[in-house]
Amino acid sequence: MLRIIPFIVLFFSSSFFAQENYEEQIDSLLSLMTLEEKIGQLVQIVGVDENEENLIRNSKVGSILTGARFGVEETNRIQKIAVEETRLGIPLLFANDIIHGFHTIFPIPLAEASSFNPELVRKACEIAAFESASEGTHWTYAPMVDICRDPRWGRITEGSGEDPFLGSIMAAARVKGLQGNDLKDKTSIAACAKHYVAYGGAEGGRDYNTVDISERTLREVYLPPFYASVKNDVASIMSAFNDLNGVPASANQFTLKEILRDEWNWNGVVISDYNSIGELIKHRFAEDKKEAALKGFTAGVDIDMVGDTIDGDVYSPNLKNLVEEGLISEEEINQSVRNVLQLKFKLGLFENPYTDIEYFKENNLSQLYKDSIALQLAKESIVLLKNENILPLKKGINSIALIGPLANNNEDLLGSWAAAGEPENVITLLQGIKNILDDKVEINFALGCNFNDNDSSGFDDAVDAALKSDVIIFAVGEPRNMTGEAASRSDLNISGLQVDLIKRVMRELKEKGETKPVVVVLMNGRPLTINWVSENVPAIIEAWFLGSQAGNAIAQVLFGDYNPSGKLPVTFPLSTGQIPVYYYQKHTGRPFDAEHKYTSKYIDIPNTPLYPFGYGLSYTTFSYSNIVLDKKSINRDEIINASVDVSNTGKYEGEEVVQLYIRDEYASVTRPVKELKGFQKINLKPGDTKKINFKITPDMLSFLNAEMKPVVEAGTFTVMIGGNSVDLIEASFEVTD
Ligand code: NOJ
Repeated sequence: MLRIIPFIVLFFSSSFFAQENYEEQIDSLLSLMTLEEKIGQLVQIVGVDENEENLIRNSKVGSILTGARFGVEETNRIQKIAVEETRLGIPLLFANDIIHGFHTIFPIPLAEASSFNPELVRKACEIAAFESASEGTHWTYAPMVDICRDPRWGRITEGSGEDPFLGSIMAAARVKGLQGNDLKDKTSIAACAKHYVAYGGAEGGRDYNTVDISERTLREVYLPPFYASVKNDVASIMSAFNDLNGVPASANQFTLKEILRDEWNWNGVVISDYNSIGELIKHRFAEDKKEAALKGFTAGVDIDMVGDTIDGDVYSPNLKNLVEEGLISEEEINQSVRNVLQLKFKLGLFENPYTDIEYFKENNLSQLYKDSIALQLAKESIVLLKNENILPLKKGINSIALIGPLANNNEDLLGSWAAAGEPENVITLLQGIKNILDDKVEINFALGCNFNDNDSSGFDDAVDAALKSDVIIFAVGEPRNMTGEAASRSDLNISGLQVDLIKRVMRELKEKGETKPVVVVLMNGRPLTINWVSENVPAIIEAWFLGSQAGNAIAQVLFGDYNPSGKLPVTFPLSTGQIPVYYYQKHTGRPFDAEHKYTSKYIDIPNTPLYPFGYGLSYTTFSYSNIVLDKKSINRDEIINASVDVSNTGKYEGEEVVQLYIRDEYASVTRPVKELKGFQKINLKPGDTKKINFKITPDMLSFLNAEMKPVVEAGTFTVMIGGNSVDLIEASFEVTD
């Protein structure tokens, strides 16, 4: 084997690394590479066995999907093979799924979106990047930026909910947090916006299912968070599993080439999802692996994720044959290799291929800091759904009954994709309550039932615990394995016998004439249908899966150390029959009218959801008044300022997410009844009033016309401001020609 490492080392002297796009270095390297070596850069394998070590030695692999527990010694050892034992010494990329934390686990992304606090989310991602980089990760498959309006889809847990504006803000925050200021920093990792695109639109909420949507819906709803990622220099994008309007997303020229490369002018790396090139055959879009490789590659997928490991030989050797047959040009291969090498240069891997274990030891972030961010984000992610003067609970009580399968559970609180998070490092609700209460408070724990069987033998213990306690807290929901990938549900009820458990305990209390406070703490990875609970239980907290600090966060909310401020990033349906149900709906030609049969509605349930988007209570109350626009009319390119007075009219200091929605009243294409266009999270002391200002810019008024061109049309616009998507005060202005 001809080895030319000394040449490369000499050639890539430090001044050489200073160039931004590394074009010269990449050209030089490409001129040295054989076609096989180039294709090797486009192949990603999962894990590494002995046989695969040889593939690496032979330059047939460019990157590796590792598990979270692969370990830094192992990544450095494997990297040594690539750097010292291959002809050109090109370092490998180690990729991993770091979705909401690595060791320190933050709330599931859907919960984080409830915080409406992108800066805190950015900090959490920064910590996740630090922890995973210290273990040898260069590249994470996050953020997941799929908009989803169907909670049956298990992967709704991984995203930021139903709204493209909120989704875009969160996508940007996550990319910034993961990538930091410079990918070369030892503590930054490359991000990957996924799953491109419209994976969250799977029909019936069934994972991997077909997506058939208009170009308008694609552009208005599903693309914005990807665009926000691109605008924030996301290093890579993952092409999705789904079929999109008849063309699988991993072979979709329109989305991958025309939109991503030509319209957005983005030059990062596109990687397929897990064997999604090989799956083109299952889609019946390609007859064999060769055709699959041709279609995926020519659509713009640079790297085939693990197709060569699990399905055998998708990109390699097919790309080589395709070049030899003239169906793909070597220049096209070069372009994809360029994208991959550019990422390796940007990450500084040619200068520092190994993870600097000492650096991370010496500069470690304190556990105290990491826990404080995890705790703050967990608290801000909690949404108070209902409170009839029950919460906050008084710390001076004598006893608490803590009932349900999530009451003393650590593992499920990690949520899906918990990387290297260990259940034993998760604070359970039981522990969290103990942490803030005096030892003298008696806690009567009862499991009551499991998540998913018909065993009610624990009900009696739960009744006993409730009867001998001052306060009853139920911790119920769904287990984490009912959420995430391949975990779609057709029934969104709290699973198994859990509601029966609550009913039984409440019935016994009633029969005994007890009027003790009852609270339900929900833990789940998606909106659930909770009508009975909502009608019958006086206080409900949505605690999602909050990660390492879950128990502390929930306890602090229950006992008033933290006043809840989270708002729903997704609508809670009244029944699964309403799905899809989301705030951003169209008017229709027959808008809902209770008095008239022939209007758009159900005959058996209301149109309105159980809890709307943006909704969430506080222990205090806020009032909105005095909405003022600084102009009555503007030109298309002018800015208009809106202001509103927000007052804390209750007894507690608290945070409020002030939400701005806009409606274009009449337009050349039908527009939604409202669109979120801004929000601010503010803090107010009891009795205080703050004037909140929003600057409304032309892009906030624009939409895609029938030709898919952004336009601001003359006419009336309504500005709506409030604490959720329903309770809003409004004012309007004109845009004139
Ligand atoms: C498949 C999932 O769809 C994707 O989100 C993930 O990044 C890859 N597997 C790799 O684990």
